Amino acid sequence: MAKYKVGFTVGTFDMFHIGHLNLFRQAKEYCDHLIVAVHTDEWVMHCKNRPTVISYEDRAAIVAGCRYVDEVVPNETRSKMEAWNKYHFDVAFIGDDWKGTEVWNKIEAELKEVGCDTIYIPYTQGISTTEIRKKLGEKTDKVEAKQ
Ligand code: CTP
Repeated sequence: MAKYKVGFTVGTFDMFHIGHLNLFRQAKEYCDHLIVAVHTDEWVMHCKNRPTVISYEDRAAIVAGCRYVDEVVPNETRSKMEAWNKYHFDVAFIGDDWKGTEVWNKIEAELKEVGCDTIYIPYTQGISTTEIRKKLGEKTDKVEAKQ
């Protein structure tokens, strides 16, 4: 039996990578039911002013196909309280790259008031969607394999 009943995390999860998998795997160790909110394409455009590589439908399907994930929902808000009012989760997970930031200190305090804990999951170093985008920018041409 896990410590918490319902857990929640949110992100874009574009070009699904090992950092995303590690986040879900560790989050699921703490809860029986893991909800993952995936940013819609419109929301990513609004926030980052650049499109995702993979569409919302595909990103949501890939996340849903991950064995640690129990439920996928669309996300179009920065407010974690809005999400909490919908899903009433007991714990929120976020990578520890956000730990101690003004934004998450505030979210953590707000969630605490409704009895929801925040757990910072160790960030997987050396990989991110941004890093993959950079690498793809470096070289996309195929090279002939040397025999
Ligand atoms: N995350 C992680 N380890 C990584 C990359 C991301 O633990 N190497 C976590 C983030 O802390 C966040 C979640 O995965 O809790 C979703 O991050 P997301 O922004 O979707 O992925 P990134 O790869 O960080 O994307 P970007 O480079 O566009 O910021």
